[in-house]
Amino acid sequence: MKPIKVGLLGIGTVGAGTFTVLARNAEEIRRRAGRPIEITMVADLDTARAKQITGGKVEVVDDANIIVNHPDIDIVVELIGGYGIARQLVMTAIANGKHVVTANKALLATHGTEIFRAAQEKRVMVAFEAAVAGGIPIIKALREGLTANRIQWIAGIINGTTNFILSEMRDKGLDFDVVLKEAQRLGYAEADPTFDIEGIDAAHKATLMSAIAFGIPVQFDKAYVEGITGLQAADIRYAEQLGYRIKLLGIARRAANGIELRVHPTLIPANRLIANVEGAMNAVLVHGDAVGATLYYGKGAGAEPTASAVIADLVDITRLATADPEHRVPYLAFQPDAMTDTPILPMDEITTSYYLRIRVADKLGVMADITRILADAAISIDAMLQKEPAAGETEADIIILTHKTQEKKAKQAIAAIEALEAVSGQVARIRLESLG
Ligand code: NDP
Ligand code: HSE
Repeated sequence: MKPIKVGLLGIGTVGAGTFTVLARNAEEIRRRAGRPIEITMVADLDTARAKQITGGKVEVVDDANIIVNHPDIDIVVELIGGYGIARQLVMTAIANGKHVVTANKALLATHGTEIFRAAQEKRVMVAFEAAVAGGIPIIKALREGLTANRIQWIAGIINGTTNFILSEMRDKGLDFDVVLKEAQRLGYAEADPTFDIEGIDAAHKATLMSAIAFGIPVQFDKAYVEGITGLQAADIRYAEQLGYRIKLLGIARRAANGIELRVHPTLIPANRLIANVEGAMNAVLVHGDAVGATLYYGKGAGAEPTASAVIADLVDITRLATADPEHRVPYLAFQPDAMTDTPILPMDEITTSYYLRIRVADKLGVMADITRILADAAISIDAMLQKEPAAGETEADIIILTHKTQEKKAKQAIAAIEALEAVSGQVARIRLESLG
């Protein structure tokens, strides 16, 4: 059969990985796909580097528009990133009847609705396995493998950079900035690393998973996003002493009155498998009503792991390109006319447990005041740790773990605790999930 022709937009970390793996495993991939998959054109701003990577075997251009408008190209692979030029190129490719593969979670989490609608109209596929958890086939698992289930919740370590930073800080006592630079050198971090450390990248991915899991539109603007920049080394230490690890989790949960969609540092019991996912590795726990909990683990970033997902999409499209569009797997798992408008809950309405670190003057009655405030708010205490003041100091830390409560109640109680005379500064608050 004649080869399917691919145009690659952007040959940076993931683009180069895709080119290399596709060339190395060409024969194996052909046997799986049923026909050869060939990258015939590459666009990159740095054409000299692109020519070096491709070894003069393909046409290299500096204007990606040439590829998305080229009549010979069947599939466009967008690996530029961001939602500027990438959005325009993807929309043009779709308008020209080309299938699209992208690793660009930022683009899909913010403009997914528009992109999927356009693709539906033009009867082309938009595939994005690489956009969530890099090499882990989590999109396929959610969209196909778990299709019998009513998904109840998803909790994932879905940003390699922040997991790498938290692991290195905890294990080696390294500084935040040093570890971030190393993550950038290794190609894990986004072009703008703020996306990683402020939780935005994880929220893009959690948003995509929430849409596929619950059959709701892609709504990044409704996600709660909190990164790791406010985390203190003391909290990582105290969490350990209480038997917990702190991870940046992306959570999507079906609640009684809506969907919780949130990214924030989270205490997880240290004996959970997911708590032991270290370095740049990713892991996603999915709980379905029939299957129970399932865990997916692997490399969430890097050239070849991400290429693995990009190429899996290329093979899927190659196999399905000739299928009637009505019989393809829907982009967001549910048929477009069967999506629901279940709301994403405001953060005040979510329910979780809390770790609280309270800095207090070492005075009689402080503990009683704090516990009374929590009792009045109907927040029950699960565990408590009281530290002696360090030598020469008059203040000490009290650490409290609560049982589940509503965020709004926790916020009110924290404000009341902060108003106590014996309490100094702000109460450090980190959410806690047992993931049982
Ligand atoms: P890179 O920055 O390494 O690569 C992007 C490439 O696109 C660069 O070579 C860049 O050229 C080129 N480029 C920029 N603008 C244009 C343009 N207008 N026309 C043609 N080429 C252009 O990014 P990554 O490979 O790391 O990421 C690509 C995508 O994959 C992003 O959406 C990212 O979020 C996603 N992703 C990345 C992962 C990773 O591990 N890195 C993992 C999963 C997803 P130049 O350098 O000259 O500007
Ligand atoms: N910056 C991302 C990460 C790349 O660190 O996980 C993979 O999406």
